Amino acid sequence: MSGLEEKIKASLAEALVALGAATSTKGLEEARVAFIGTKGRLIELSRAVGSLPVAERPAAGQAANLALNEVRKAHKEALEALNAKLTQKPGLDVTLPGRRSPLGRQHLISRTMAEICGIFEKLGFTVVEGPEVETDYYNFEALNFPVDHPSRDMQETLFVGQDLLLRTHTSPVQIRTMEKLKPPVWIVAPGKTYRRDDDVTHSPMFHQVEGLAVAKGITMADLKGVLSAFATTFFSPDTAIRLRPSFFPFTEPSAEVDIACVLCGGRGCRLCKGSGWLELLGSGMVDPALYKFVGYENENVTGFAFGLGIDRAAMLKYGLPNIRHLYESDLRFLEQF
Ligand code: PHE
Repeated sequence: MSGLEEKIKASLAEALVALGAATSTKGLEEARVAFIGTKGRLIELSRAVGSLPVAERPAAGQAANLALNEVRKAHKEALEALNAKLTQKPGLDVTLPGRRSPLGRQHLISRTMAEICGIFEKLGFTVVEGPEVETDYYNFEALNFPVDHPSRDMQETLFVGQDLLLRTHTSPVQIRTMEKLKPPVWIVAPGKTYRRDDDVTHSPMFHQVEGLAVAKGITMADLKGVLSAFATTFFSPDTAIRLRPSFFPFTEPSAEVDIACVLCGGRGCRLCKGSGWLELLGSGMVDPALYKFVGYENENVTGFAFGLGIDRAAMLKYGLPNIRHLYESDLRFLEQF
């Protein structure tokens, strides 16, 4: 074996070690240039084959060709392996726990509405609904509000057209229900209501539940019994109620219903302004004037009705100082319930 052939073989071995040791594209390129670049060691050695004695050339030439091919191949493979490693994505760890998406929940208003309706359903009432956009007829006229009577000023109405308005209370559902059903009628009607009002205890959009019971022999005692059952279930088992004389065009007699203060239990505090009582809802015996509008005049029935503010009930039950908390969609607030 010629000395050149030996040098070629030694250089091949060195080149393979250098390529194998390179850990970066840069290192790999340096090794390539060092051995098979234009002035690389193996290239120089293979050029030297031409100056060997003729007899030694074939063996040395073959060794040089083999060495060059092997180094090119080794370089190509090392480059591919390195690229594959660089572009590899981190593996999927199937033992990692999954990510939970946060669970949604019912808004406090929806929950309170469902709870209130549930209590009345257990007492035998059926839940019905009515439109939020109403006519003057259902919101006022058929509820015995005289045309141009100042009682309409009690409610700051939002009008949306000539004869169309956003209902100022859920009481129009009393009329719509009696138009459709013959007595006995036992319904509650929850929903949104609207008034031009905006302060810490009033929102332009708020919620009410209307109650209506019309049947033979209904008295004010039934009204008081039903509302007392509601108060003790919704607030606490010892919640007392009281009825105060009031006025609504669609009930006669009318009563404002108070509950014993949720904070002091009736002793008097800042929340109840020392009175021991908190106003909860408006109610009364259905004014017979309504029966003429709905075709009940010959039914020989009596009834009671009430209208309860859901937002107000939630504020009292959970001690919320400001109605706006209910409408700001701040999850830090809402998630407490
Ligand atoms: N609609 C009345 C209000 O919004 C409440 C009410 C309902 C009073 C039913 C009596 C009977 O103030």
